[in-house]
Amino acid sequence: MSYVLITGASSGLGKVFAQEYAALGANLILVARSEEKLLTLSAELRDKYNIDVRTLMQDLSLQESAEKVFAFCNREKLTVETLVNNAGFGLSGAFDSMPLEHLEKMIILHNLTLMKLTYLFLPDMKRRNRGSVLNVSSITAFQGIPYNAVYAATKAFILTFSESIREELRHYGIKVCSLCPGLTETAIFDKAGIDPYQTLMPIGPPEPVVRAAINGLEKNKNIIIPGLINKILIHGGRLLPRSLMLKLGIVLGRNKKAFLQNSC
Ligand SMILES: NC(=O)c1ccc[n+]([C@@H]2O[C@H](COP(=O)([O-])OP(=O)(O)OC[C@H]3O[C@@H](n4cnc5c(N)ncnc54)[C@H](OP(=O)(O)O)[C@@H]3O)[C@@H](O)[C@H]2O)c1
Repeated sequence: MSYVLITGASSGLGKVFAQEYAALGANLILVARSEEKLLTLSAELRDKYNIDVRTLMQDLSLQESAEKVFAFCNREKLTVETLVNNAGFGLSGAFDSMPLEHLEKMIILHNLTLMKLTYLFLPDMKRRNRGSVLNVSSITAFQGIPYNAVYAATKAFILTFSESIREELRHYGIKVCSLCPGLTETAIFDKAGIDPYQTLMPIGPPEPVVRAAINGLEKNKNIIIPGLINKILIHGGRLLPRSLMLKLGIVLGRNKKAFLQNSC
């Protein structure tokens, strides 16, 4: 049977991806560390939509975690039709004030695991001449973001990586898209100790972001930027000097106060 595999499905965008794909009748493989949350969600979706939902508790910031997810799917004979690489976390502060261990986990989770999962599931998609990969990047992918340096760099990796393989895989009927959300109301900020309302950026709920992503993946869009203001900021930003965009990037990476201090 075919499945949509969603990493980071226990909360935020990943949970909404699970709910939206379930409503479309897709069978699901939900991966995250919080077992209780995954089990509650899977029971809910199974009952409501009469679909098959598998859960896998896995820390994806460990080096060999992608291999473990792949082995689980092989053992259970689950065909991954759509891979949603969504799991992630935030960090904010001066680069050299961050614990190195956290930065390393971020790079493994956002980049190494995402790359490996894509690599491992691709051969089967190629054999079947169909499949989709949705990689969750961010609007921070388009430029340097002071006080969010590693986060922004990992998101830029996702964008460049996805665009590159998208072109390689076009002839195999495989879709590859990057989702670049703006600030979205999820638990990511609380977990990172960031107040998103202190920034100058608009913030919205996760449901429209996920619907735009599923719709964009269906149409095989290269980059999906939900929200008009986010689109204007990203496309308009390309016309401005990078040095100016870096200054404006502080608005995203830190907060209003820091931006005003840095502008003075
Ligand atoms: N919210 C925003 O404003 C925003 C904007 C742009 C991009 N994004 C991106 O959207 C994605 C989802 O974030 P969110 O906003 O929905 O945040 P969230 O509510 O905190 O959800 C993050 C998900 O990732 C999982 N996760 C975190 N670390 C993990 C690990 N080591 N191993 C396995 N799973 C892990 C979490 O599950 P467990 O804790 O149970 O493991 C959770 O399910 C991230 O890639 C984020 O960078 C978010």
